[in-house]
Amino acid sequence: MTRHTIGFIGGGNMAYALIGGLLTDGFSPQNIYVTDPEQDKLATLAQQFRVNTGSDNNAAVANCDIVVLAVKPQVLAEVARGIAQAVNARKSLVVSIAAGVRVADLQRWLGEDAAIVRCMPNTPALVKTAATALYANNRVADSQLEAAESVLRAVGLAVWVDDENLLDAVTALSGSGPAYFFLFMEAMESAGRELGLDADTARLLTQQTALGAAKIAIESSESPEMLRRRVTSPGGTTEQAVLTLEQGGLRNLVQNAMQAALRRSVAMSDQFGAQ
Ligand SMILES: NC(=O)c1ccc[n+]([C@@H]2O[C@H](COP(=O)([O-])OP(=O)(O)OC[C@H]3O[C@@H](n4cnc5c(N)ncnc54)[C@H](OP(=O)(O)O)[C@@H]3O)[C@@H](O)[C@H]2O)c1
Repeated sequence: MTRHTIGFIGGGNMAYALIGGLLTDGFSPQNIYVTDPEQDKLATLAQQFRVNTGSDNNAAVANCDIVVLAVKPQVLAEVARGIAQAVNARKSLVVSIAAGVRVADLQRWLGEDAAIVRCMPNTPALVKTAATALYANNRVADSQLEAAESVLRAVGLAVWVDDENLLDAVTALSGSGPAYFFLFMEAMESAGRELGLDADTARLLTQQTALGAAKIAIESSESPEMLRRRVTSPGGTTEQAVLTLEQGGLRNLVQNAMQAALRRSVAMSDQFGAQ
């Protein structure tokens, strides 16, 4: 992994998180290049991480085995077209983290022979707890698959899907998922206040409960259903709350919400691809 040179096109939030993760994993800052139009951002990255910075995307690509496209999806077509020649000359692996931009469109902008990995990370990448799914086109060599995975693993979990369409499902689950948990936390906090707790106490207890439940779910070999059953004593308080949630149609609501997210993901990909 430390052999590779990696270039980030776009030095925003995600690039910052990924670079931080790579350095923690022992990656050499000398092998990292970042480009961005904003000099202030580049100066911060250079000062904090000692990485190479610049504003010329093609100059960075010329140095890099792996090029991470970390710009907003709206500007990706222009950015990709601008580096296509350099990518083909260097035969770099392109890793796109842009939400909703399909491989076929990236190939159209970068050239049919481009080796591309498309990823769908989520916001917890910023605290090194991302859930990322990756998909590779058939130009990507085995060693490049490993290299792409290690970049995303630097900020959390990374899993592969073998059908690109599944990235819309991933978007609906883990891409948008943090907001579902925030909403649930909001609702629990507010209900806690209604029950007489002060705001700080309701927030702290909600946060720690979410963390504890996630930790048990991750560390246990049992399914969430089994874990729920174990903490639901017959005739107890949890049973009453869970029954109320079930009767209120929570499962259907979650299913409908994720289907709506999936439909929006498909529509947005159509829109970005039309460029
Ligand atoms: N943040 C997340 O949690 C998250 C989750 C999943 C996927 N993603 C994806 O990750 C990508 C980056 O997101 P982000 O949150 O890091 O966005 P961001 O903070 O806005 O970073 C993008 C950076 O790219 C720069 N840029 C714009 N045009 C450029 C160009 N031609 N060449 C080089 N750099 C250029 C932007 O500069 P200006 O600000 O000056 O335009 C900005 O600094 C997006 O495609 C997003 O869909 C993000």
